[in-house]
Amino acid sequence: MKSIDELKAEIEKFKIENAETLEQFRLQFLSKKSEIQALFAEIKNIAPEERKSFGQLVNELKDKAQQRFEECKESMEASQGVQHSIADVTRPSDSIPVGSMHPISIMMNQVRRIFEDIGFTAVTGPDIEDDWHVFTALNFPEEHPARDMQDTFFVELHPDVLLRTHTSSLQVRTMENQQPPIRVICPGRVFRNEAITSRAHCIFHQVEGLYVAENVSFADMKQTLLYFAQRMFGPDVRIRLRPSYFPFTEPSAEMDISCYICGGEGCNLCKHTGWVEILGCGMVDPNVLENCGIDSKKYSGFAFGLGIERMTMLKYRTNDIRLYFENDVRFLQQFKAASR
Ligand code: PHE
Repeated sequence: MKSIDELKAEIEKFKIENAETLEQFRLQFLSKKSEIQALFAEIKNIAPEERKSFGQLVNELKDKAQQRFEECKESMEASQGVQHSIADVTRPSDSIPVGSMHPISIMMNQVRRIFEDIGFTAVTGPDIEDDWHVFTALNFPEEHPARDMQDTFFVELHPDVLLRTHTSSLQVRTMENQQPPIRVICPGRVFRNEAITSRAHCIFHQVEGLYVAENVSFADMKQTLLYFAQRMFGPDVRIRLRPSYFPFTEPSAEMDISCYICGGEGCNLCKHTGWVEILGCGMVDPNVLENCGIDSKKYSGFAFGLGIERMTMLKYRTNDIRLYFENDVRFLQQFKAASR
């Protein structure tokens, strides 16, 4: 067995230059199988009167090895840190990956922007509504199918509490709280109890609009919607209004735009008709104005509503509405340019 002095000399002489040699040092002097440990095991064989001083020497030896190990380790770590920062001060930093806006938000903001430019103000309100604001005030007859369990999500314990099926509820809320002139748009999330397919979802987004003042006419509505269509789809777009029915507007219409892909010639997108439907609209029914405390003899107005997912699918030519809810980053990242 090596003497304590021999081991002491070895500890001092051992060349520690890098992480590898540091580990070798640890194995040789500080591990369970080291020669220092063997000396500890030897203590019990030493004559009792020398045991104490021998034990002390072995302990000192172990402390020495431990101390050398810590010092080398610390200085190695410190010098690594310094070297690293000296080498890297001029290196350009890694670029931070930038996210993009969701296509639904992009479209929502675009629609909002177009109407805000001509004096409309956006209003928001609750997703969870009551029967009055979603149906009754809007002139829905008692037996109207939209009230049916099949279309509307009701809260089981409160038949009067439901998830709004359109943001027309915000038109009611606005008219109840404000006298004309009123010019608002109502962006928001809506809910309908529909089977989820590539063309329909139980959650989607709408922007609805309302204009109430003296002498508001159908021609005002048509001009406003033409302005919107041309800003959204290009200056050459034409519109057409087809008669339709909504309980809260009279007369009611559905608006098509000339197909911006084929220019009206006929293609897959417009199903060879040359026209694509984009929104519902109409003159606010006098009953609705009266329900909200507005004098229908003095004032008239128009309203419209469009589905954001549908607009987005048309504009970016995607064919599956579910893509907007799955949030697959590979899909979302394609809208980077549009979100700037
Ligand atoms: N609220 C109707 C819907 O959700 C859209 C609409 C709004 C139609 C205003 C006419 C006037 O389908």
